[in-house]
Amino acid sequence: MSEPYDTIISPQNIEIKVFLLEEEHIDRVYAMEVESYPDAWSKELFLPEINNRAGKFFVFFIDNSLIGYAGYWLGGEEAHITKFTVAPTYRRKGLGTLFMNYIFKQVKKEDVKKIILEVRERNYPARCLYEKMGFQTIGTRIGYYSRTRENAVVMVLILDDFTDYDTD
Ligand SMILES: CC(C)(COP(=O)(O)OP(=O)(O)OC[C@H]1O[C@@H](n2cnc3c(N)ncnc32)[C@H](O)[C@@H]1OP(=O)(O)O)[C@@H](O)C(=O)NCCC(=O)NCCS
Repeated sequence: MSEPYDTIISPQNIEIKVFLLEEEHIDRVYAMEVESYPDAWSKELFLPEINNRAGKFFVFFIDNSLIGYAGYWLGGEEAHITKFTVAPTYRRKGLGTLFMNYIFKQVKKEDVKKIILEVRERNYPARCLYEKMGFQTIGTRIGYYSRTRENAVVMVLILDDFTDYDTD
């Protein structure tokens, strides 16, 4: 594997290596994607996230195990979170919170003022996490997810109003 982009420490004090998405990660990311979403992205949808100049896509590893991934697109002072996933066996251990804090830190470096995301209306774990981290619901997109026809809740966080979350 190539050199990590960064290293962060889990709440359990375990070292997590952060990489930017590369082709060699795609099979593992896709396997977790299918496990995690009723409307999973196809493998092909991940490919443009490699070397995407208009955003970043991080994959998180403990040793050789993929434990999650998260991506965003940039547009002006706004970041749009495209993916946010923790591996099933690693959930409820504070990693979602850690990864979101990591995204906050990264987008602040890119002068982002506002983060936006969509989440399935019935995805209570994710909605709870986002609310806990300061996101506010600004609307609903009816039937947004084409496969399931489920509604999306649109959530926004204004970074200026936000307490400093530091992952160092
Ligand atoms: C949503 C997700 C990223 C949360 O990751 P996580 O590592 O479990 O999150 P954390 O451990 O940091 O949890 C933080 C808070 O989120 C909320 N939360 C997380 N999972 C929850 C669950 N199953 N039920 C209720 N609340 C939950 C809680 O408020 C939790 O705080 P607490 O543990 O102190 O009660 C993870 O469940 C996931 O990957 N789900 C599948 C993919 C997905 O739906 N992603 C969101 C796409 S929009």
